[in-house]
Amino acid sequence: MKQTSAAGAPERSRLTDGAGTVAPMRIVYVVGTRPNFVKTAPLIGALRARLPEGRHVLVHTGQHYDRMMSAVFLEELGVPEPDYMLEVGSGTHSEQTARVMERLEPVLAEEAPDLAIVPGDVNSTLAAALTVAKMRIPLAHVESGLRSFDRTMPEEVNRVVTDHLADRLFVHSPEAVDNLHAEGIAAERVHLVGNTMIDTLVALEDRFRAAGAATRLGVAPGGYLLVTLHRPALVDGPLLAKTMTRLGALAREMPVVFPVHPRTRAMLESVDAEHPGLLLCEPLGYLDFLSLLADAGAVLTDSGGIQEETTYLGIPCFTLRANTERPITITAGTNTLLGLDPAAISTIPEALSQRPAKPPEPPPLWDGRAAERIADVLT
Ligand code: UD1
Repeated sequence: MKQTSAAGAPERSRLTDGAGTVAPMRIVYVVGTRPNFVKTAPLIGALRARLPEGRHVLVHTGQHYDRMMSAVFLEELGVPEPDYMLEVGSGTHSEQTARVMERLEPVLAEEAPDLAIVPGDVNSTLAAALTVAKMRIPLAHVESGLRSFDRTMPEEVNRVVTDHLADRLFVHSPEAVDNLHAEGIAAERVHLVGNTMIDTLVALEDRFRAAGAATRLGVAPGGYLLVTLHRPALVDGPLLAKTMTRLGALAREMPVVFPVHPRTRAMLESVDAEHPGLLLCEPLGYLDFLSLLADAGAVLTDSGGIQEETTYLGIPCFTLRANTERPITITAGTNTLLGLDPAAISTIPEALSQRPAKPPEPPPLWDGRAAERIADVLT
């Protein structure tokens, strides 16, 4: 097993409340992909501040491993060096899941945590949840209760299983509470706390507002369409070529900036993606990405997190998917579901001309304090 321990031999630290020893508190956080880092960073900060004598162990599964998909995020978010790197890398869903389980089990055996925390819905989340549950360690899931009701999405399977295994389910919107209730999950396990991804955005706001990424890329703030696409349903088949043709046509009216995820980059090799006004670039660090997002005229995406970030920032978002597990971004935010239909891209300029002058307020509890609320529950 390739793993390193930056922290050395674990030392059982104890938390006292002034009246004597209360409890040993050992927490393991398991992350693996770009959005996981963003969702977990504020929680690590909040729990470290509340439990300075506790042991806080960060495990990075290595599902994302390129510098721009991983290390740069940890640096910008101020997350400490992971204590364990599992280096699972890419593979089929089962390979990736199995590798995380196999390599995480001995870490959990050694650390014997009182609590394990997993964010989101990626394969690393599922694998960690299964391992933790089988070792009878209490499990907390951050960003619980989201449902697309589409089991062809790998993330939907990951969400459902993780939620049913978790002891504490931290939720960011009321419909997620309803989803968990409908699946028979006991209400006392569910906590509506807000959105830790928005915590990170709020914490970085001064820095990304000053980053000036649009100007560096040569596009005018407010005047371009920012694009991110990486879901298998869109990029692993014929829809990608059709999407690039539509984006090429749109780029004649409005510059298009498209930082390309590695999965999409590999698929683009066999597609004609060169069009005037369409700028393809490498994945960006988080500060540069948020800077581009905040300055965009509009965003086209199939990401989950970006539907939330645009809602918070009041930027029009067009989601190129058949469904969303984040309906609050439509009912209370700036999101429009286009369907899984590249032809719908041509409706964006008209939709933009008709949008309301003032974007809605962000949903309740999307206020930068979700991690504090989670820490209130856990401590
Ligand atoms: C994963 C998540 C997805 C999440 C996304 C965020 C699952 C099932 N999917 O998708 O829910 O929205 O992360 O980005 O967990 N690759 C690299 N370098 C990297 C990472 C990946 O080149 O650092 C390439 C590899 O060719 C790999 C492919 O991208 O096979 C896909 O990576 P993988 O982690 O399997 O899924 P994502 O598409 O990133």
